[in-house]
Amino acid sequence: MMMSEKRIFLSSPTMHDGELKFIHEAFDTNWVAPLGKNVDGFEEDMQKYLGGGIYAAALSAGTAAIHLALILSGVKHGDIVLGPSLTFAATVNPITYLGAVPVLLDSERESWNMDPEALRKAFEKYPQTKAVIAANLYGTPAKLKELREICREHQTAFIEDAAESLGALYDGEQTGRFGDIGILSFNGNKIITTSGGGMLVSKDEAVVKKTRFLATQAREPARHYEHKEIGFNYRMSNIVAGIGRGQMQYLDEHVRLKKELRKQYAEAFADIPEISLNPYLPESEPNMWLTCMLLSGDSPVKPLDIMVALEKENIETRPIWKPMHLQPVYAGNDFIQIVEGMSVSEDIFNRGLCLPSDIKNTKEDMDRIIGIIRGLFGK
Ligand SMILES: Cc1ncc(COP(=O)(O)O)c(C=O)c1O
Repeated sequence: MMMSEKRIFLSSPTMHDGELKFIHEAFDTNWVAPLGKNVDGFEEDMQKYLGGGIYAAALSAGTAAIHLALILSGVKHGDIVLGPSLTFAATVNPITYLGAVPVLLDSERESWNMDPEALRKAFEKYPQTKAVIAANLYGTPAKLKELREICREHQTAFIEDAAESLGALYDGEQTGRFGDIGILSFNGNKIITTSGGGMLVSKDEAVVKKTRFLATQAREPARHYEHKEIGFNYRMSNIVAGIGRGQMQYLDEHVRLKKELRKQYAEAFADIPEISLNPYLPESEPNMWLTCMLLSGDSPVKPLDIMVALEKENIETRPIWKPMHLQPVYAGNDFIQIVEGMSVSEDIFNRGLCLPSDIKNTKEDMDRIIGIIRGLFGK
């Protein structure tokens, strides 16, 4: 059988005309590097978008933002940091960059994110915990207020990994605002992209100023090069930030289109009881970055069957993130769960699948994807 020529991606960059204007401006004024008007402008745009009282520092990656967030939370060698198991490795890897120790927590079933009960249990076991990082998986907000409240009770820094959730709301408020520090990512598959990049955001202006300082090699204000702290080369370039400024103009449009895709999937699978979509909390409004499906335990069709059938047609899907506590690299780390038997995160990994969620998908593309999946269920 001939493979269809046009590949349908999971979530590829969607570029517009606006981005080039900012890049040209940087070239024309020779502000290609290091910082410049686009970096300032991108930070200002994001501050406005996230709402009052937020400060933002543009960085080279979301991972860099997490690294600095941990440093600014006082995390040092040997400290315990609590993080989610069900996430991309970049949520927890920076903990190990610092020689600190990640303790991995199971998910709840209502949003697939860090379970507040597991967080309570972890604090009992590790009262010396230095920081907590929670993610909003696939653009779906976690139980952010509850998680934040538990961290406050224990006077522990709370970092919100909003890499996947820019544009999502919890209780009507933008995600990224709930942690003492929030982080964003603009890598290629995110809801907006700068080709690669990230941001650290906080309501504490001093934290954001310190971020900019650490991200530019911790150079002290002196005529010569003076260093009292170890710094990093983590700042975003003025060219990259130009892409970000352009993309910001389309963020709401991207969120709207992501929600549209989710709606099409929900309607298409409404008569297949074995399929449910990634759930979200009633007080939240996800950005629907990726629509994921969860198959019932007795479904005759397994995630791999769907993956293989779509791959044959040149359509990209992706397994759910393999939980960190099941990764060889974290085999020696503690994992905390509430349920007996198989953890929630492992169960979601086994039964879930990320569906093509590219906002450039046409009606025909969606009909093809949906048709193939429905066919597997004999519909
Ligand atoms: C949940 C999560 N955290 C962190 C990151 C890291 O962001 P970046 O790729 O910009 O370093 C990503 C995305 O890659 C992510 O999905």
